[in-house]
Amino acid sequence: MTSAAHSAASAAAQAASASASATAQTVSATSETSAGSDILTVTHLTHSFGRGHKATHALKDISFAVRQGETLGLVGESGSGKSTTGRIIVGLYQPTSGQVLYQGRNVTQLTRKPGSNQFRRDVQMVFQDPHASLDSRMTIGAIIAEGPRIARDTTALQARVHEALDAVGLSPALANRYPHELSGGQRQRVGIARALILKPRLIVLDEPISALDVSIQAQVVNLLDDLKKQMGLTYLFIAHDLAMVRHVSDRIAVMHQGRLVELGPAQEVYSQPRHPYTRALISAMPVPDPCAQFQRDPFAFEDNSYDGQQLAETSPGHWVLR
Ligand SMILES: Nc1ncnc2c1ncn2[C@@H]1O[C@H](COP(=O)(O)OP(=O)(O)OP(=O)(O)O)[C@@H](O)[C@H]1O
Ligand SMILES: [Mg+2]
Repeated sequence: MTSAAHSAASAAAQAASASASATAQTVSATSETSAGSDILTVTHLTHSFGRGHKATHALKDISFAVRQGETLGLVGESGSGKSTTGRIIVGLYQPTSGQVLYQGRNVTQLTRKPGSNQFRRDVQMVFQDPHASLDSRMTIGAIIAEGPRIARDTTALQARVHEALDAVGLSPALANRYPHELSGGQRQRVGIARALILKPRLIVLDEPISALDVSIQAQVVNLLDDLKKQMGLTYLFIAHDLAMVRHVSDRIAVMHQGRLVELGPAQEVYSQPRHPYTRALISAMPVPDPCAQFQRDPFAFEDNSYDGQQLAETSPGHWVLR
């Protein structure tokens, strides 16, 4: 490690320990006030891509809990660290530091520990771009069957593939087709079926509708809503658009520059945003009346490292970085 990287790392470690007590409070406060218990908790997640002066510090001390049965919206501009957070949660990336707890158990460095298979089934991810995330050389059936195959759980697999296709509103006949033969909306349904076949409890939805035509976005949102009710699912719903997630979320977490800057009940975060960045996100939202858009004072937002700041609970369950 270069000395610059070393001092950056030790500064990050100091910042992490400085905010440790506040964040521990956050996590416990989240549990105490929750209607459902916490199904998943992340504590002090930091993540850097690359090393030295070229390193990107994608996450800086992120802590929050996802409650059983809720939809937690995770919003923020491009590059704020949303996908990195989601990928760490499902185990696709190992965090540089910090932990992921699933039902209270540390699953951060799961390899072949007993019980890890259950976690791998219970927590699934749906990706933003259904075209890039489906292997073009595999049939739809093989794509959906891949998870169970890896888990060596192949009993009645064909019937389960058909059931998963049916659950997302696709004909079982599509099992023999290839991704390029499907529309964008159908491909995203395949991405959802691939997660569902494992009977998950928590799904990380990484911008599941952003790549779709506006005309079919609502259909996929409605499908996700139906599936959630039918199967008792919990969602971490990632989006860059606060307007979209506010309708589907129970709570909203706002990220900026690798930090969690605000977390609270969805309607409250939207109607009474407390962090300047959340206000900036809302003022950037398009409004139907162009005159109203013109009269609004767009919130000028300057970059801020947020170093030394901590999450504070400003009203019950509403946390703001300051
Ligand atoms: N594999 C990678 N290698 C290097 N840097 C990466 C990698 N993935 C993400 N980053 C960087 O980490 C930061 C956070 O990226 P991330 O993809 O988590 O953001 P995001 O909030 O999901 O953005 P978007 O809305 O564009 O999807 C960005 O600066 C990004 O460039
Ligand atoms: Mg992303």
